[in-house]
Amino acid sequence: MALNKTLRPGLIQLRVLDLDKTLSFYKDILGLNEVGRTADGRVMLKGYDEFDHHSVTLRLADSAGFDSAAFKVDSHETLEQIRSAAQAFGYAVDEVPPNTDQPGFGKRYGFKLCTGHRLEVYCDVEPARQRPMIKNPDLWGDEPPRGMRVQRLDHFLLFGPGISEAERFCTEVLGMFVPEICNTPDGKRLATWITSSNKPHDLAFVEYPEPGKIHHIGFFLQDWNDVGAAADLIGKNRLKLDIGPTRHAITRGMTIYFWEPSGNRIETYAGGYTAYPDNPQRVWDTDSLGRGLFYYSGELIDSFLQIVT
Ligand SMILES: [Fe+2]
Repeated sequence: MALNKTLRPGLIQLRVLDLDKTLSFYKDILGLNEVGRTADGRVMLKGYDEFDHHSVTLRLADSAGFDSAAFKVDSHETLEQIRSAAQAFGYAVDEVPPNTDQPGFGKRYGFKLCTGHRLEVYCDVEPARQRPMIKNPDLWGDEPPRGMRVQRLDHFLLFGPGISEAERFCTEVLGMFVPEICNTPDGKRLATWITSSNKPHDLAFVEYPEPGKIHHIGFFLQDWNDVGAAADLIGKNRLKLDIGPTRHAITRGMTIYFWEPSGNRIETYAGGYTAYPDNPQRVWDTDSLGRGLFYYSGELIDSFLQIVT
């Protein structure tokens, strides 16, 4: 449930290397539905439990990684407030006209964070053709969920420099709050988990010298059983596993991490505590981060810390 005027991360555009092979992963294994293609050949996808036009766009490129992500806000008034607040914060704001590079989406305002990531906000988006039922609804519509049965885009973790400023932008401009942080022994921010809703995170940042990197994109599953079923499909399809199934103490999510065929890390995730803006902030020390990330083993793994796209 949204707790403020920024509703949720509603769209992410990713770069991929082999469009056909990667698309087959997103559709057949992850279980997203293809919505259509843009004139320049990008592919639009959505989860079966999402109402809006699309939530994931894949773009063929020479390197895998993150192009941009966009947050849906509750009204035109909020959209204009965010534009003014972003400018007052010191960021340049550009305007993307409706129905241009992202079909179905209304006007978007975009800004580049100091971490090197482009974030956008929008308020209008066309409904998806295939959307969840609303009249005496079944659990799903005509087409049953496939593969890992991901319900929707959940969150993403970005790596880049200056995350304290990025955190401040999310709270001061987008009106989000910060349920959890990790600080270095000298008190600098190493990681921050940020939300605009009851979810423990809508996005997160880790301090990293290189700008514009993404660690993973998280998709939401129903429960622990679906995390196990996702692991079965990772084995069956010979996907490269990073870690899991395991449990985070941070966010308390039940999780599994692996790589899609282009090398972007994917998380399928269930659960997580209920976040409220008036709850005290949870604070992690660097030397407890292993237990925070992987509660059962309590140990960090090199691949998880070092591989980003
Ligand atoms: Fe995650």
